[in-house]
Amino acid sequence: MLKLSKLATAVALVVAGSAAGAGEVEVLHWWTSGGEAKSVGELKSIMQGKGHTWKDFAVAGGGGDNAMTVLKSRVVAGNPPAAAQIKGPAIQEWASEGVLADLTPVATTEKWDSLLPGVVANVMKYKGKYVAAPVNVHRVNWMWANAAVLKKAGVASAPKTWDEFFAAADKVKKAGLIAVAHGGQNWQDFTTFESVVLGVGGAKFYNDALVKLDQKALTSATMTKALETFRKVKAYTDPAAPGRDWNLATAMVIQEKAAFQFMGDWAKGEFTAAGKVPGKDYICAAAPGTANAYTFNIDSFAMFRLKDANAQKAQGDLAAAIMGTQFQEIFNLNKGSIPVRLNMDMAKFDDCAKLSAKDFVGTAKSGGLVPSIAHQMAVNPAAQGAIQDAVSQFWNDDKVSVADGVKSIAKAAATK
Ligand code: BGC
Repeated sequence: MLKLSKLATAVALVVAGSAAGAGEVEVLHWWTSGGEAKSVGELKSIMQGKGHTWKDFAVAGGGGDNAMTVLKSRVVAGNPPAAAQIKGPAIQEWASEGVLADLTPVATTEKWDSLLPGVVANVMKYKGKYVAAPVNVHRVNWMWANAAVLKKAGVASAPKTWDEFFAAADKVKKAGLIAVAHGGQNWQDFTTFESVVLGVGGAKFYNDALVKLDQKALTSATMTKALETFRKVKAYTDPAAPGRDWNLATAMVIQEKAAFQFMGDWAKGEFTAAGKVPGKDYICAAAPGTANAYTFNIDSFAMFRLKDANAQKAQGDLAAAIMGTQFQEIFNLNKGSIPVRLNMDMAKFDDCAKLSAKDFVGTAKSGGLVPSIAHQMAVNPAAQGAIQDAVSQFWNDDKVSVADGVKSIAKAAATK
């Protein structure tokens, strides 16, 4: 009897302990594909394990354009979520509005400065204070290929140059299969575009044209070459591409309907969720001409200022969990990315992730590491949107000449 009542007291204490400071976190994100949902589910369970309530605020639409529109209206209405997936220069824009919470206390306790590469920490800080927690490092300049399709088409290995790529793509077409799985949405056109620019012009050119938005680079012969190549890629997509979601394009590669997809390594999350093995079922290779470069895309969550003390506690716990080793490993194993936290054990990661980790470090030293413009890392959101629209107009309308395409992209870059 005594024992039982002791047990009851102990249980009551534990329950009270976990309830103290338990709050709700409403988290805005756009992770709705199979691999993405599995990944974000891990964060949800960690938070629930800490006694907090997870309120999912998922806004479908790869690349996050829809999510950002919805976020703006919520903030304008004075009702922001606790946390939102906000990346790159947009973090600075939101912080300058004075709406973001200061995460410095948790960042100091958890020693983020010593656990993050300097380039990443800077993006997460506004005026020296952390306002966002980084999740991962995605590499964008990948080309995914189905091994069985390549074999069927008589393509011996993943093409390394654009010439090799077009030769391989011709063979795939001849074998009666789709060469390039593409989803015709602006952000996906832009994702392919940046890999083509990187492959044709190299990292320095990419940086001049798409990060510094230098007009000379944007109107150069190299840009003309890039647009010619970009248009040529389109000829290898199927007529049903317009509007298709990125994960459905990945599914075409997984299901042996198509040979290649140009997409960041969240695509690997789909292969993983489908039980596919890299090196056996599919190949991850740098997009043609980009093996010595790396377009990085860092997912991160910014937290909005909230008044309620429990909600603030939950936000701090969310930030700490995001940078914790448990989350960094399990999330990134599912998501296709690599941990952003330094010195993580990579033993459980596959060869694509190991290559990504090696190249991230290598290209940072060689100058080949560049921010992805299609994934909100390189320029402010207004410039990104304008250039993205110009790129898609060119992609969608074969009647626009390459010369006019170059002009309108350069013009879009100049007006913002
Ligand atoms: C994000 C990824 C996401 C992808 C597709 C990118 O902008 O960084 O986390 O998986 O969009 O939705």
